[in-house]
Amino acid sequence: MSGINYKLWANYIYQISCRYINPGESSVIELAAGNGNLSKHLSKKFASYLASDNSISMLKNFKAKKIDRVCFDMIYPSVNKQFDLIICSFDSINYILSKQKLKTFFRNISGLLNTDGIFLFDAGLIRNSLHHQKYAVKNGRIKNISFKRKSIYLQKSRIHKNIFEFYFQDGTKIKEIHRQKIFELKELFNIIDQCNLFVVECFKAFTFKDCKAHNFRAQFVVKRKNRC
Ligand SMILES: C[S@@+](CC[C@H](N)C(=O)[O-])C[C@H]1O[C@@H](n2cnc3c(N)ncnc32)[C@H](O)[C@@H]1O
Repeated sequence: MSGINYKLWANYIYQISCRYINPGESSVIELAAGNGNLSKHLSKKFASYLASDNSISMLKNFKAKKIDRVCFDMIYPSVNKQFDLIICSFDSINYILSKQKLKTFFRNISGLLNTDGIFLFDAGLIRNSLHHQKYAVKNGRIKNISFKRKSIYLQKSRIHKNIFEFYFQDGTKIKEIHRQKIFELKELFNIIDQCNLFVVECFKAFTFKDCKAHNFRAQFVVKRKNRC
């Protein structure tokens, strides 16, 4: 996650949200917030802000300790409240590996949104995975930990694997495999439509232009249909 300009990213999300809600009066939940890279920039701008992730270690190492945090799997959010804004960023949606689970996720999002609330999420698209495939091995360093990232995109299954090896100063090594499913834009539109939600806008990420299937990443703005 190093090298990402989270301040700019947060500002982009904020600008979108201002088109639909009044931030100073709005309640927000961020799903898959990781260790709070975005939350630390966004939380001050909204009336209330709850961050969540299914990794307890991410939440423990949170960048902004004052923000309320809760640990759950975003497919089955265990929070008994509705929100004006739901955020799920940086390809976190791609961690949901099957259409069935994605449907469950979106249906539960519908229940989590206030009537006029919005759901903002981005999704990595095929071009993004093919691009990373070209530069398949990356070495880097975060503080005292060096790492190697190997990127493999399996075109048939559309599974993108990022294999991380972390090397610590005491000589220990940890390996983590992150699997992401790369859905096509039209699949995402179809699934959303089946889940009591609709797409208000879909931007080429970091712009306000319409997203095309060949773009790197899509930024969705989604709202709830009327209750069934
Ligand atoms: C690429 S990181 C993005 C983190 C954060 N949104 C950011 O921009 O830095 C993906 C995050 O999704 C979380 N995650 C993956 N699957 C999840 C799930 N089913 N429920 C909740 N969090 C999940 C991971 O723990 C990780 O923190």
